[in-house]
Amino acid sequence: MASFQTLPGFRECYPEDLALRSHLFRRWRQAAGVFGFAEYDAPVLEPLDLYRAKSGSEIEAQLFSFTDKGGREVALRPEMTPTVCRLVGARANTLRRPIKWFSIGEFFRYERMQKGRGRCFHQFNADIFGEAGPEAEIELIALLVQCFAAFGLTADDFYIRLSDRNLWFYYLEALGLDEPRARTVLTVVDRYEKNGDAAFTAYTDAFGPLPEDLKARILAFLGVKSLPALEAMLAPLGAEKLAARLAEWRQVLTALDAMGWGSFVTVDLGVVRGLAYYTGFVFEAFDRRGDLRALAGGGRYDNLVKKLGGPDLPAVGFAIGDMTFSLLLEQRGLLPPLVSAPDVYCVIGGAAERLMAFREIHALRAAGVRVEYPLRDLAFGKQFKAAAESGARLALILGGDELARGVVKVRNLGQRSEVEVPRDAVVAHVRDFLAGNG
Ligand code: HAM
Repeated sequence: MASFQTLPGFRECYPEDLALRSHLFRRWRQAAGVFGFAEYDAPVLEPLDLYRAKSGSEIEAQLFSFTDKGGREVALRPEMTPTVCRLVGARANTLRRPIKWFSIGEFFRYERMQKGRGRCFHQFNADIFGEAGPEAEIELIALLVQCFAAFGLTADDFYIRLSDRNLWFYYLEALGLDEPRARTVLTVVDRYEKNGDAAFTAYTDAFGPLPEDLKARILAFLGVKSLPALEAMLAPLGAEKLAARLAEWRQVLTALDAMGWGSFVTVDLGVVRGLAYYTGFVFEAFDRRGDLRALAGGGRYDNLVKKLGGPDLPAVGFAIGDMTFSLLLEQRGLLPPLVSAPDVYCVIGGAAERLMAFREIHALRAAGVRVEYPLRDLAFGKQFKAAAESGARLALILGGDELARGVVKVRNLGQRSEVEVPRDAVVAHVRDFLAGNG
């Protein structure tokens, strides 16, 4: 049997699992719809070159890649961002701006398996192209919060850590670091949460030890948790770029406050994101208890469309992963009962009645009522047991006596009450009942 098991990190999806996943997708799709995002889709298999040097070394190392029968180097997509840049880039001239797009799809990364991380997973991606100002960030962070709030999650359950690669570069420049040194510091910051002080070896290896006063200022920047604290720390540096950037920070946070989403967003410069293409604001969503890995991540990537052969087109986006998100809903008891019960179960007298029953069964199904019936002739007792176990609210009893009189019995399985209904009135009766008028 061993050779027929799933590959490590790949998930099978039994109906109850799929019911949960579809529930997530439905709500995310609905949120994207009300925000005016249009849905797109794209291939899961892409040329390997699409990811080389674009996604960042971590994702590159995790690619599921191989050579196809035509000798092409290909990879299963580890993320959507390069693909959507290609799609938008190819039609940039004809698309109405701002371009607001979303997708839901499956992605593959050869990762070490852990709670909330697999080798295949789904993401909801939302991106805006063609808007250079922080208005795009505002719209996307609002959508991200809405995608969570739609499930009843509150600011007690999750939060968004908002950071900014530009601000880091301006800050490090004001401290006297050149660009290569600043880039290395960002690598250190990316690993600092996980590795602590050991993260600084990346800097030491490249440029020698970081002077203690600089290290202290970097750690102080990492500790900032509010806009006033950020403003206070940056004011003495006096750089114009810093002041202009802080105005954009104020714009983002004030707008999210005005929407009522202020309490979901925390200033946190500890997030710089490992992906290679981010250029400005970056953000990640986490659960408040800190039990789970990142729930979502994104940011601005103004150079990627051009790098992939398209026009110069500013872009911002994010992706939510389904695995950690499902764990969060489960932890908070926010999974709805995802029942697939029929509305009506038909109890059928015998072979002769079955043919007559098909008329009711078909008419009800055509009217949108979920109907089940036993596929084989069964004793009444067994059928009633099956009706009760199915979770149906009504049983339709199509016995020989009733049908001969032109009626069927409709039994309310919850209340154990029963009425006789003329055959022609069954659909209206059942629909009335299901609509709550019965
Ligand atoms: P990312 O941070 O690599 O960003 O992934 C986004 C989310 O996908 C993560 O927060 C996590 O929930 C989920 N995820 C990532 N890897 C795995 C895995 N191995 N197993 C389960 N879930 C995972 C991106 O992918 C960017 N392309 C997002 C983006 C869109 N940026 C701009 N637009």
